[in-house]
Amino acid sequence: MYSQTIIDFVQKNAPCYIYDQATIRKQASRLQQTFGEATLLFSLKTNPFVPVVRFLASLGFGADAASAGEVALAASCGMPAEKIYYSTPGKTQADITACLGKCHLIADSMQEIIRAEQAAKEAGKTIGIGIRVNPAFSMDSDMPAPSKFGMDEEQLHRVFALLSECPHLKIEGLHVHLRSQILDALMLANYYEKCYALAEKVSRFAGHPLSYINFGSGIGIPYYKAEDSPLDLAVLSQAFSTLAERNKNALAANLLIETGRFVTCESGTYFTPIVDKKTSCGKTFLIVEKGMNGFFRPAQAALLEQLLEDIPNSEPLYTRKNAFPISVVGIPQIGAETVTIAGSLCTALDVLAKDISLPMAPVGAIIAVGNAGSYGRSLSPLTFSSHPAPPEFLYTEENTFVER
Ligand SMILES: Cc1ncc(COP(=O)(O)O)c(C=O)c1O
Repeated sequence: MYSQTIIDFVQKNAPCYIYDQATIRKQASRLQQTFGEATLLFSLKTNPFVPVVRFLASLGFGADAASAGEVALAASCGMPAEKIYYSTPGKTQADITACLGKCHLIADSMQEIIRAEQAAKEAGKTIGIGIRVNPAFSMDSDMPAPSKFGMDEEQLHRVFALLSECPHLKIEGLHVHLRSQILDALMLANYYEKCYALAEKVSRFAGHPLSYINFGSGIGIPYYKAEDSPLDLAVLSQAFSTLAERNKNALAANLLIETGRFVTCESGTYFTPIVDKKTSCGKTFLIVEKGMNGFFRPAQAALLEQLLEDIPNSEPLYTRKNAFPISVVGIPQIGAETVTIAGSLCTALDVLAKDISLPMAPVGAIIAVGNAGSYGRSLSPLTFSSHPAPPEFLYTEENTFVER
C-alpha cells in the first residue's frame, strides 16, 4: 500500500505525518469541477501545515481562517486578502484590529459588530463586513437549534438596527455553517438553497445585494470505505450549478464554499514506531511512540466507543467507527494477532486502537494510521508530557519530502 520510498523515509523519520500532494490535487480538482465558478476556501484549522496551505493557494484556494493567526498564515502562504475570510466566535478587539484590511471580517455577534465599528473608526475607514447567521433551519429540518455560532435569523432586525448606528461598517456578506461530514448530496443541495434564500432576506434588510454568500462546509468523505457511500458529486454539481445560474440574475454574489477534510483528510497518514510489546493478563499491547499526543482523534474515538454505546456523531471529535484505518508497514504481512495499540502517556486514554487484528509486528515496525490529513496534528495535545511534536512532510508529485 505504501511505496518503498515512503517506507524507507518513515523508518528514519517516524513518528511523523506525511501528506500526499497528488491526493490533495485530485480532491481539490474534484471540488473545483463540482462547484464551477464558486470560490473554494480551505479551512486552515484542519491542516495548517505551510507546504499544504501554499499548495492549495497555488491551486486558487482562499482561506477559511478561524483566528488572527490563521489570517496571517493564509497571507504568508500567498493567499490575497480578498480571498481570506475570518469567521469564528469570540474575536477580541485586538484580533479585529490586527486583521483590519487583511481579510474579510465576519462578525459572529452584536458585540463583534461594535468592536468592528470601533476598529474601523480608529483606522478612519469604512469597511465591508460579513455576518454569521444561525439560521431558522438546521441541516436536516426546518427547525432552528441554539448555537454559540453566529446571530439568530430571528434577531436580524436587531442586527440591522445596530448596523444602522455604525457609520464605518457596510454589510457585504453572509456566512452560514451548520454541520460537517455530510455524505448525502441532496441534503447539502437543499441546505444551499435555504442559505441562498436567507442571503436574499439579509440583502433585503441591507437594502442592497450582498456581494458574497459563504455556505460553509459540510462536504464529507468516506472514512470507512467498507460502509460509507461517498458523496455523489455529480448530483451536488447539478444542484449547485442551478443555484449559480439563478444567482446570476438575482444577487450576483460571489459564492463561497469552505472545505477542510475533503481536500486533505485522505492525503494524510500518521506513522509511529512500535517501541515496546508486552502482554498483560492475556492481552497483547503494542506501545508506540507518541500515541494520542501525536494523533488524538483515534484515541478519543476508542474512548468514546468504550464508554458510550450509542455515540452521537459529533464532528470533529467523533466521526464513526473504524474511521482511522491502521496497518503495519515495513514488515512481511504474515500471521495475525489481536493487539491493543497504546502510547507512552501516563493516562489510560492513550489508546489508538483496542483489540484489533494486525499482522505479527515486532518492536521497531511502524504503525500507519490513515485519514490523518485533517484534524490530525492540529487537534492533538502535542505538548502533553513534553514530548517533541511529530514533524510533518508533504510528499510531492516529484517524490520529494518537503518539511516546513
Ligand atoms: C465554520 C467552519 N467551516 C468549515 C469547517 C471545516 O469543515 P469540514 O471539516 O467539514 O471540511 C468547519 C469545521 O468545524 C467550520 O466550523
